[in-house]
Amino acid sequence: MAEFALPKNSKIKAKGKAHKAAAGAKNIKNFKIYRYDPDSGENPRYDNFEVDLDTCGPMVLDALIKMKGEQDSSLTFRRSCREGICGSCSMNIDGTNTLACTKAIEDVKGEVRITPLPHMDVIKDLVPDFTHFYAQYASIEPWLKTKTPTPSGVERLQSPEDRSKLDGLYECILCACCSTACPSYWWNSDKFLGPAILLQAYRWLADSRDEMTGERLDELEDPFRLYRCHTIMNCSNVCPKGLSPAKAIAEVKKMVVERAV
Ligand code: SF4
Ligand code: SF4
Ligand code: FES
Repeated sequence: MAEFALPKNSKIKAKGKAHKAAAGAKNIKNFKIYRYDPDSGENPRYDNFEVDLDTCGPMVLDALIKMKGEQDSSLTFRRSCREGICGSCSMNIDGTNTLACTKAIEDVKGEVRITPLPHMDVIKDLVPDFTHFYAQYASIEPWLKTKTPTPSGVERLQSPEDRSKLDGLYECILCACCSTACPSYWWNSDKFLGPAILLQAYRWLADSRDEMTGERLDELEDPFRLYRCHTIMNCSNVCPKGLSPAKAIAEVKKMVVERAV
């Protein structure tokens, strides 16, 4: 049965904890951070952290690391590379999905509000559950698939021109900023693959060495998996790598149409 009320533990409590900057700090920025620990049985809350920018690196991730190191070690978030390559620090900063490690603190006017990526289950604080997202990625079989044997002693070669068709696709770091900004994905993520996974699907369709184009299109040609995209473009607007999932989706739709004529 459809549930019209929010689940009990999804409501934000009015008052969170306040973490003060060290005495004498002169250049303070306030960060409002979403906190949620399912094991505690308590509702989510926003904690306020005062961060001394004179002793902090320039990026939002630098501030989070400082908060965790100096003010509250239980603050939980993902990160690894710190240079926009691993995709693990994706979160919603100041209302936009992006990477904490490439988002400059100075680009946010006033208080910095940080929440997990929207419309995902939350494991803890700023860490969303990517289990379903990764299962959808696995479902498109993201590897080179061939039918003919590799010419003996020769690798499967690709011309520079064919290789360039992968530009704008291979750079995707699977951060999910786009999928979690897509209204169609919010409401239909059980069946709609969403922009990140469809961009990845197109990456293999566009690869001149792959020989399973027909089978891949058969899998995608579905009212939900592909056609829940209504070209709203939120995905392309938020991608922190400057990619355009909406364009990739349009290319997939074009391939489906062209093979039918
Ligand atoms: S263009 Fe398609 S995939 Fe991108 S946000 Fe819009 S509906 Fe979602
Ligand atoms: S297309 Fe961009 S926003 Fe989407 S998962 Fe890839 S890198 Fe992230
Ligand atoms: S820490 Fe790797 S992308 Fe931000």
